[in-house]
Amino acid sequence: MSSSPRANAPVAKRKAVTLSTLAAKKALGEPIAMVTAYDYPSAQVAEEAGVDVVLVGDSGAMTVLGYPSTVPVTLDELLMLAAATRRGLTTPFLVGDLPFGSYEVSDEQAITTAQRFVKEAGCDAVKLERGGTSVARARAIIGAGIPVMGHVGLTPQTATSLGGYRSQGRTAERGLDVMHDALALQEAGCFAVVFEAIPSPLTDLIMPRMQVPVIGIGAGPATDGQVLVFHDLLGIYDGHAARFVKRYASVRDQMVAGVTAYTEDVRARRYPEAEHGYTMAPDEVERLQGMLAEQTGEPFTGGFSL
Ligand code: KIV
Repeated sequence: MSSSPRANAPVAKRKAVTLSTLAAKKALGEPIAMVTAYDYPSAQVAEEAGVDVVLVGDSGAMTVLGYPSTVPVTLDELLMLAAATRRGLTTPFLVGDLPFGSYEVSDEQAITTAQRFVKEAGCDAVKLERGGTSVARARAIIGAGIPVMGHVGLTPQTATSLGGYRSQGRTAERGLDVMHDALALQEAGCFAVVFEAIPSPLTDLIMPRMQVPVIGIGAGPATDGQVLVFHDLLGIYDGHAARFVKRYASVRDQMVAGVTAYTEDVRARRYPEAEHGYTMAPDEVERLQGMLAEQTGEPFTGGFSL
C-alpha cells in the first residue's frame, strides 16, 4: 500500500460530536447529517466529509456481507465491522446497530450486547428497532449507562411481520401506532429516534411532539436530520434501491472500470511497467550470477534484467 498523499495536509480540527452537540443542533434547527459506514476506509470518508453521526448499520449485512436481508448477520460480524469503523473515526458520534436476535430476549441480553458494542468496538451508543418490547430494552440499556437511538416505521429486522419492505403508517390507525412507538422510545430516554419510510404528513404530525432529535430516512424533510446508507448514496451497492435513496455518485461503475482496465493490462502484458518494479545494483546481479555459476559449474546468465 502507498502512503496517503493527505498524510501531511493540514486538517481543520473539528470538535468531537457528543449527545449535547446533537441536542444543541436540534435546538438551533441545524440539520444533523448521518451516514452508515462499515469499515476503516468508509469511516475515513465519513470523517473527512464532516458528517455528524456514523451508524454501523445492520444494513451492512446486505451491502458488505452479501446476506439477502439484515436478519442473518451475527453479533460478532457486526462487532468486527464496528471496531474497524471506530479505527477510522475521531469526530462523528458512533452508533452500533444491535442485530436481530441480540437484544429481544431479555433486558440482560440487551445490556450485555450493548456493552460489547461499547467495550469491544468503541461505540458511543447503540440503536435498536421497533417500539413494543424494544421500549423496555431501550430503558434497560439506558439505565446501564449506554445511550440508545430508537428506530420506528419500517424496521427491516421485522419486515416480514410488517408485510415486507414497504412504507409504514399510511392509515390513521397505523400512523398512530408509529407515533406511539416514537413517543414511547423518547419517554424511555432515547437520545434520538430514526423514522424510516413513513409518509411525510405523518412525520409533520409527530415532529411537534418530539423533544429529541429525529433522523429521517424516507420520512420527508421535517425531521432534524437525515441518514442514508453509504453504499446506496455512493452507488456502490447494486441491489434494489428504495424510493428515498438519492445517488450522489456512481462509485461501483468506476470500480468495475478500474478493475477491468487492470485485468486487460495484465492480459496484454502492459502491467507492470519498469516504474512498478524494484532495481538491483548491477554488481550485485553479477555477484549472484557468479555464485550460481559456482554452484552449477556452468556459466549462469539467464533470469535477470538490470
Ligand atoms: O441499518 C441501517 O443502515 C439502518 C439505517 C437505515 C437507519 O438502520
